[in-house]
Amino acid sequence: MIIAIDGPAASGKGTLAKKLATHFNLACLDTGRLYRALGSTILKDRKDPKDLKVAVNAVKKVDLKSIQDIELYTEKVAEYASIVASFPEVRKELLGFQREFANYPPKGKLGAVLDGRDIGSVVCPGADYKFFVTASQEVRALRRYKQLQENGLKGTYASVLADIEQRDERDRTRKVSPLKVVDALVVDTSDKTPNEVFTDALSYINTK
Ligand code: C5P
Repeated sequence: MIIAIDGPAASGKGTLAKKLATHFNLACLDTGRLYRALGSTILKDRKDPKDLKVAVNAVKKVDLKSIQDIELYTEKVAEYASIVASFPEVRKELLGFQREFANYPPKGKLGAVLDGRDIGSVVCPGADYKFFVTASQEVRALRRYKQLQENGLKGTYASVLADIEQRDERDRTRKVSPLKVVDALVVDTSDKTPNEVFTDALSYINTK
């Protein structure tokens, strides 16, 4: 079983992915972490994320299996991630890892759920179930702002909102793998609790 979840920043796709993974005993991959790992490496090296050579070198350097670092969650890292994510060369390098994760999940797991921007459109176009999870920009900025505070990271609500607006624009308008709805159930989480979103997703899966 493969489940693809796409959507903009802080829409709740990661929360839904984890709940579905637990419910169906699936392996779970937050693909944003792969791009963030590149962004974080480039930031630490004080290099320019707009430089293709720098971005491609970062893909070779990063250990895709160890992407748990809390520092991946700063908005600066997210900005760098979204800049390198516009390079087709970078996306191509990450494709194999993501597809392998989806098709050959760890032993004991019955499949995989991946969340990101291009899972249903590019990484797993043949996924059994596809969701596009979204919410208003204000709701998403507030969620991300609270998350930063909980993790003791810096940022004001206004700066988080501005970062999210800029990142949405970049992710939606880039030439390669833009964020878009492809054969997916659209779920607006603005006024829903994580459990309500999960219930909606389950009933879609059960009736499909
Ligand atoms: O999901 P998250 O906000 O952590 O992703 C960080 C950035 O990585 C996104 O803004 C996007 O530019 C990029 N990304 C992507 N494709 C994915 C996952 C993330 O382009 N599948």
